[in-house]
Amino acid sequence: MNKTIIVSNRLPLQIKIDNNQLQVKPSVGGLATGLKTIHQEGNSLWIGWSGLTEEELNSDLSKQVKALIKKEKCDTVSLTQNDLENFYYGFSNRTLWPLFHYFMEYTEFENTYWDSYKAVNQKFADAVLEHVEDGDTVWVHDYQLLLVPKLIKDKKPNTTVGFFLHIPYPSYEIFRTFPWREELLHGILGADLIGFHTYDYQRHFLSSVKRILRLDVNFNEITYDDRVVKVDSFPMGIDYNKFHQSALKQKKEEKSELQKRLDDHIQSSKDARMILSIDRMDYTKGIPNRIRAFEYFLNKYPEYKEKVRLIMLAVPSRSNVPQYQLLKRETDELVGRVNGQFSTVSWTPIWYFYRSMPFENLIDLYTSSHIAMITPVRDGMNLVAKEYVATRTEQDGVLILSEMAGASKEMNEAMLINPNNFEQIADTLKQALEMPLKEQRSRMEILQKRLKRYTVEKWAEEFMKSLFATKNLGAVIIAK
Ligand code: ADP
Ligand code: F6P
Repeated sequence: MNKTIIVSNRLPLQIKIDNNQLQVKPSVGGLATGLKTIHQEGNSLWIGWSGLTEEELNSDLSKQVKALIKKEKCDTVSLTQNDLENFYYGFSNRTLWPLFHYFMEYTEFENTYWDSYKAVNQKFADAVLEHVEDGDTVWVHDYQLLLVPKLIKDKKPNTTVGFFLHIPYPSYEIFRTFPWREELLHGILGADLIGFHTYDYQRHFLSSVKRILRLDVNFNEITYDDRVVKVDSFPMGIDYNKFHQSALKQKKEEKSELQKRLDDHIQSSKDARMILSIDRMDYTKGIPNRIRAFEYFLNKYPEYKEKVRLIMLAVPSRSNVPQYQLLKRETDELVGRVNGQFSTVSWTPIWYFYRSMPFENLIDLYTSSHIAMITPVRDGMNLVAKEYVATRTEQDGVLILSEMAGASKEMNEAMLINPNNFEQIADTLKQALEMPLKEQRSRMEILQKRLKRYTVEKWAEEFMKSLFATKNLGAVIIAK
């Protein structure tokens, strides 16, 4: 039976060794949470990094680790400490991530990082080539592996290869600054189908292909190496039922400690309201902007003091990269400043958690919050916005969402804001707090309908359908 090989930098599970004991956690991030459902259901093998370095993998626990990974239908690519520093923290997260999110000032162009990126992409391709059989499909994911499609296609030209980018694709003017731009584009074009979250990212990619490689682009098809490569947008959805059903179920079960604390605030006064944000601690997520805008709101509308509380969950991420350390410091300081300025004996305006939380607690936060305030300065998609909507079983609640998130393209019924405009955010927050229930419900109903229809399963199905159609189209053209 033919299989699909999913390839991504991270596996859906992350393993750590602590005191000679294995610790296993689900991976955080849109890619892992989104693809997990598809992987569990289909005939697939997932190839990626387990979270352990090659040095750690060679320890006494290696047998246990291998068994664990195999049980999850996965195989691991082992990365050395040096790979982690130069490929992951280096090229992936100090070069591509900032560049593709328009943070030019954070982007480092380093030959050592680039050499490591090429070598590690080769490791991933080799791992795929070890497993791929005739008739299998390979689906490569995200910016860490942009060279892998070509490395596979060069060795196995008949293999169907799909590629999906989970982050924004920047405009030509940004991308052209990249020193290895031709190699990167050739790497991606090894795929038969290239997918993006939004039409804009697709358009930017095609523009780079036309202007840098001077290739002919016919609408959204590129003829490349006697093949047809198709480029299209597929906005990623969520496992709607999982979030909706968990929210319904948790309402009937015994309350968690967190839920009890959240209830205490809600019951403290009839006007008490909770505003939620959940992100990885990343400078693209607009965390300082959000705190500043909240501070501005409390100054502009003091009648809301002692009534509203911002609950901010930030998950530690890429903490070896200096910009992330600076962001953490800035966030700590801002939270301290706002809490110091406004707190009373019975009220703290911001509850800030810097940690990962179990799924059940995420659901508690989503279902208890009257408003979700999601303000990235740049974000490929943002699944948190969609998860919040899916858990609103009474169809109440308001989503405030940045126009800079890919998700805003399909969530017009949210209250869309510019994350740099504090005046607008403060006024929108007031409007959201005062929105009549009827309007909340009519907005939520449309948002939920759309998310229910275009789930993550549907997203994968549409991508695969289009991938096979492209491969067949290519075969017809070549035969002619
Ligand atoms: P990104 O991919 O940039 O991290 P997304 O918003 O698209 O951003 O995806 C984040 C994913 O990580 C969501 O599916 C969310 O449920 C999950 N997540 C976020 N915070 C936590 C947390 N504290 N604990 C567990 N999962 C989390
Ligand atoms: O969705 C974007 C993404 O960068 C994924 O590729 C990645 O797995 C996730 O966010 C979390 O980042 P990291 O793997 O660097 O912790």
